[in-house]
Amino acid sequence: GRRVTVRDIAAAKARHEKWPMLTAYDALTARIFDEAGIPVLLVGDSAAMVVYGYDSTIPVTVDDLIPLTAAVVRGSKRAMVVADLPFGSYQAGVADALATATRFLKETGAHAIKLEGGRRVLPQAEALVASGVPVMGHLGLTPQSVNVFGGYRVQGRGESGEELMADAKALEAAGAFAVVLECVPEDLAARVTASLSIPTIGIGGGNQTDAQVLVWQDMAGLTPHTAKFVKRFADMGALLGDAARAYADEVVNGVYPAPEHSYR
Ligand code: KIV
Ligand code: NA
Repeated sequence: GRRVTVRDIAAAKARHEKWPMLTAYDALTARIFDEAGIPVLLVGDSAAMVVYGYDSTIPVTVDDLIPLTAAVVRGSKRAMVVADLPFGSYQAGVADALATATRFLKETGAHAIKLEGGRRVLPQAEALVASGVPVMGHLGLTPQSVNVFGGYRVQGRGESGEELMADAKALEAAGAFAVVLECVPEDLAARVTASLSIPTIGIGGGNQTDAQVLVWQDMAGLTPHTAKFVKRFADMGALLGDAARAYADEVVNGVYPAPEHSYR
């Protein structure tokens, strides 16, 4: 029975064990992933796209994410649940970051938070850790900065790789318990992984990170367009479309409901 903790995560790195993280946004999928043994569930601000239908993560709010995060905590028993802090809820400074993280921990039961950025959010990371909030960092392609990057493109090529390395080391020194590396060259992700004592979690960062993460709808084949780094482990989009068409067909033709679905 107990939940996975930051100590378990640290121990996995010491043992050179790789581990999977998935996003989740509701109780049913949280339960399925929890029972499948996924040790860490992230309620990502990717909910902006896969739940709320926006075309970037920028518009999603704390109030949008709080009920989803609470549902994931209720649906899971063993996983550590990480709440993603959305755009605008922590950048302005330490006070905002503490207020937002406090809402997530108190109102949802989440066990840790994630925020985007390195040295520019160091005061926030340090204050959160000092206040008792485990912090997961996120470097490389940080989607809340899409308008600065000018699109979703690989980060950390060439000299900017050293900037990313410095950000990763700064997050580690600030007390972060893990750091996501999104869409970076695999050799850079490997070097950062070897240089840090905290685990790296790759998404589009090659095979040498300590852990991997994917948006579950990408992994399960529900989203129509995905990045090169996504592997589809199922074709749930086709499966669900087939189920909807079969249901519609049976209703239209009077086949469903059959006698066994009816009350006498
Ligand atoms: O919001 C999200 O889903 C994420 C992961 C892809 C790391 O931040
Ligand atoms: Na995110």
